[in-house]
Amino acid sequence: MPFHFQPFSPKQRQALYWWHPGSGHDHCRIMLADGAIRSGKTVVMILSFLRWSQTVFQDQDFILAGVTAGALRRNVLSPMFRMLETLGVPWEYRRSAGVVVIGKNRYHLFGADKDNAQDKLQGMTAAGALADEAALFPRSFVDQMIGRCSVTGSRIFLNCNPNGAFHYIKTDFIDRAEEMGLYRLHFTMEDNLTLSPEIREGYARAFQGVFYRQYILGEWVSAEGTVYPMWDDDANTYAETGPDMYRGQRRFCAVDYGTTNPCVFLDTYDDGQVFRIRNEYYWDSKAARRQKTDAEYADDLYAFLDGDLETQIIVDPSAASFKAELRNRGFRIQDARNAVREGIALTATLIGNRLLLAEKSACPNLMKEIHSYVWDERARLKGEEKPLKQFDHAMDAMRYLCHTRSSRFRSLREE
Ligand SMILES: Nc1ncnc2c1ncn2[C@@H]1O[C@H](COP(=O)(O)OP(=O)(O)O)[C@@H](O)[C@H]1O
Ligand SMILES: [Mg+2]
Repeated sequence: MPFHFQPFSPKQRQALYWWHPGSGHDHCRIMLADGAIRSGKTVVMILSFLRWSQTVFQDQDFILAGVTAGALRRNVLSPMFRMLETLGVPWEYRRSAGVVVIGKNRYHLFGADKDNAQDKLQGMTAAGALADEAALFPRSFVDQMIGRCSVTGSRIFLNCNPNGAFHYIKTDFIDRAEEMGLYRLHFTMEDNLTLSPEIREGYARAFQGVFYRQYILGEWVSAEGTVYPMWDDDANTYAETGPDMYRGQRRFCAVDYGTTNPCVFLDTYDDGQVFRIRNEYYWDSKAARRQKTDAEYADDLYAFLDGDLETQIIVDPSAASFKAELRNRGFRIQDARNAVREGIALTATLIGNRLLLAEKSACPNLMKEIHSYVWDERARLKGEEKPLKQFDHAMDAMRYLCHTRSSRFRSLREE
């Protein structure tokens, strides 16, 4: 399938021509395109990198890096092959070697998540690198990658969505652009001329709070204070009128398992649009001064669900012994998706769009946690964004149910 190029925006053209002699920026060695999702960064960086590497070098090695090997294939290789097809340039993909050969140049593929990726990098002498979503790479990988580009005239092409204000890409790259010889281009959705206003609005609705500022406005801002500031005690609650109100809806139950920590079950109904958390189970062994066994928890879950074994149970994937106990008892169980940042972003979207509600008086611990669940301030100053590990038990269960069950907004997210 060929790639249909459409007119490039002025910002995209800057990204396309920065390395040309006389562009005014060709003295820079690194180019960084950061900003909103879907703003046309990846597409233009691939083309720019290909044109540069093919024009300037022959018989050289280059680095192509993504967050994972899969992300690199989806986000970089697949559009790149389509572009090459459109341009009529032949290529050879040596899949098992992880190399793409174009002309006389070799492009080596890396997923930055692999422990051995850096070892493989270490042995290389490269003439250039293209890194997609670089803010999600470990810093050591980015440093190593830049270090390997030792051929005279080498250049590094980076792109990413913004992250926290203390992220190293912000503090050590963007804020020190001049001394590093870094050319920075900041993208907004207006820089992608192919997006209609309706599509832009759809993306905007799909992100809430700090994620809206990072992914839609393209700002390097930290997550601070409460994790779910968009929660509204009126708009996000409902009063049960009777069991009939859930008739025909799918029932499921998210579990955050704990023995010394609290153990939480959330009984939830899905009408196809809105999740309603009808009831909570919250066993705090420290407060009760008694730990429960897996068998006791399984008894409690059975009673909590009024013996309804049809309910889909979404369990914390690390709770191996409890999962085995539940399976033996005939429960239908499913592993929760446990990616914290994406899970929180999606949960925030559902809360902000009032697609996640809790029964007004049945979930006191959930409500308490929602107002006490905060971002980790110390991690933030180190450039990491994660919630503080306290008041997070019902919060984990709520995130599991949103992230595991909801595909409503996921299609908008796929980068
Ligand atoms: N000049 C262009 N020609 C064709 N399609 C484009 C162009 N610019 C952007 N697009 C489209 O916009 C989508 C989002 O662009 P992308 O570069 O992936 O954004 P980002 O990396 O900023 O998230 C691409 O998948 C592509 O379909
Ligand atoms: Mg991209």
